[in-house]
Amino acid sequence: MPSTVVVGGFFGDEGKGKIISYITFTEKFDVAVRGGVGPNAGHTVVHGGMTYKLRMLPSAVASPPTRLMIGPGVLIDPTVLLDEIQKYSVGSRVLVDRNCTLIEEKHIYADRSDHLRGKIGTTGTGTGPANSERVLRNAKTVMTHQELGKIAGNVSDEVNQYLDDGKRVLVEGTQGTFLSLYHGTYPFVTSKDVTASAICSDVGIGPKRVDEILVVFKAFTTRVGEGPLEGELPIEEIERRGLTERGTVTGRRRRIAPFDFRLARVAAVLNSATNLAITKLDVLFPETSGLRDFDSLTKRAIKFIEEVELRVGVKVSLIGTGPELSEVIHRKEVA
Ligand code: GTP
Ligand code: IMP
Ligand code: MG
Repeated sequence: MPSTVVVGGFFGDEGKGKIISYITFTEKFDVAVRGGVGPNAGHTVVHGGMTYKLRMLPSAVASPPTRLMIGPGVLIDPTVLLDEIQKYSVGSRVLVDRNCTLIEEKHIYADRSDHLRGKIGTTGTGTGPANSERVLRNAKTVMTHQELGKIAGNVSDEVNQYLDDGKRVLVEGTQGTFLSLYHGTYPFVTSKDVTASAICSDVGIGPKRVDEILVVFKAFTTRVGEGPLEGELPIEEIERRGLTERGTVTGRRRRIAPFDFRLARVAAVLNSATNLAITKLDVLFPETSGLRDFDSLTKRAIKFIEEVELRVGVKVSLIGTGPELSEVIHRKEVA
């Protein structure tokens, strides 16, 4: 498939980073291009003894020579991006779009107000205020930044050229479907739409150029920040069952509920999913830890995957069985 779009099906943190790094590593994508909001995202990628914590760069960092691009819809925090480029020595692989706009100190400060940080429970990374300034057409673009200006260009042009040449492009979404400004649990949402259509618009490819839409779910539902979460488990039960998680960006405890089949079905429709990934099967069923073959799963784990396929109406092609990039069951017969 020349172009694959990966998005989150719940409230973010579904493990997109790990799934993306797995597919870019095994399928050799020529380009990975990021859409989504900005550095409010936090992907954790574990590979070859290294743990990558990524907020701005695409998750294909661990698989050179894949080129790493950031689409014009994405907000850039220069400090965060330049730190990541330096830390992972990937400067020669990076291109940011010249129309990306900047997050400034004042946006971060405003994001820590009572309304945003307190009522909505934002990540405090400045993305909401920076997007509102962008809508007011007051924002600064990356071209005003000395160092970023040197790695800026026309991402949409490049990505479409790669597709014209039959090259493989991976389009990376961030956050999750029900954090979408339009389709989520408003007002407890992020500052943009983050469904597959919006992610394509963020990077500048038209809907007819997409071959595969992979929607990623975790084997249970998690949410950080405020807003409804049906069936939310009490903290004592989360701890007793060993499900405790903390956010990559804020360190906040993630709220947890059982897998929400109803939301998953809505997410499949909103994103027009062609196939699904389910991560953290090993957390729900510890006996599946590290397995890489579907037939070696226990009956109860297979029953869960089959129930997802039946109730969501889309096949599960990738299953995460551990944090390491290689801990994946890839059902090639499905996709
Ligand atoms: P956002 O872009 O912020 O929405 O994040 P994300 O979807 O990339 O997910 P994030 O990395 O924030 O959270 C997923 C966590 O689960 C990370 O700590 C991963 O290392 C871990 N993880 C991913 N897949 C698996 C899996 O299959 N099993 C286990 N045990 N851990 C996993
Ligand atoms: P903001 O995007 O920082 O404005 O936060 C708005 C809501 O989206 C809050 O509930 C955040 O916790 C949530 N959020 C934003 N980005 C992510 C993410 O990448 N993973 C999980 N939750 C997120
Ligand atoms: Mg995250």
